[in-house]
Amino acid sequence: MSTPAKIALALLLALMATFTIGVLSGKIWWFSEDPPLMVIPDMDDQFRLKPQGEARFFADNRAQRDPVEGTLPRQGKTYPFGMGDVDSAEKYFAAGNPLPKTEYVLARGQNRFNTFCSPCHNYTGTGDGLVQQKGFGNQVTMNLLREEARAYSDAKIFHVISAGQNIMPAYADRISETDRWAIVHYIRELQQKANGGMVPPTSNGTVSSTQSTTVSKRMQ
Ligand code: HEC
Repeated sequence: MSTPAKIALALLLALMATFTIGVLSGKIWWFSEDPPLMVIPDMDDQFRLKPQGEARFFADNRAQRDPVEGTLPRQGKTYPFGMGDVDSAEKYFAAGNPLPKTEYVLARGQNRFNTFCSPCHNYTGTGDGLVQQKGFGNQVTMNLLREEARAYSDAKIFHVISAGQNIMPAYADRISETDRWAIVHYIRELQQKANGGMVPPTSNGTVSSTQSTTVSKRMQ
């Protein structure tokens, strides 16, 4: 074989090899819809756990793990009071809801309530949400519209959301402080509507002009 022919053959072989490797590695991706053959596994195909999936590695078989205790969202703050410490919370938050009861705040409160609370408390706050309907052990999700709950202070409701109550989980690590206060406004709205629009006399959930202007420094 003449030298130019050898060079041409070598070039052709090199081209074919490049093309073959390109196809197999998935680089020439328009060639096929199939996932490429991975000689060395790519990072997009690796062992992973799916949220709410199963993982036999863990004793409880749940793939989804709780965050490490004390984990906070970015810019989050730890909630200082324990579940049973309602009195301290009521004293600390005696000023009531620091957010003004505006249309926006109510809409935000509704959005967060529907997301986090409605599974148990239902969209209306009656306590017969899906979790309760499907069977919540022998637990009863409390009706937030009943007389007793209507008489709670804003601080108490804020405290229950933040620290939990008995079987109800704490939400301080999942819902920001501002959003928790927005939820409190929304619960007040649900309670007022259920009560024929009447504001419960013991509630401090109504907006006074001073309350709406004193957006607490705590929130900033
Ligand atoms: C997993 C179900 C569940 C979720 C989700 C849930 N709760 Fe509860 N909630 C309960 C149960 C159960 C109780 C009653 C606890 C008890 O026995 O003291 C309760 C009690 C309460 C109480 C006290 C009522 C009273 O009369 O003492 C308030 C206030 C409350 N929840 C608000 C909320 C808010 C606001 C959210 C959303 C941020 C929420 N809950 C999410 C199950 C839930």
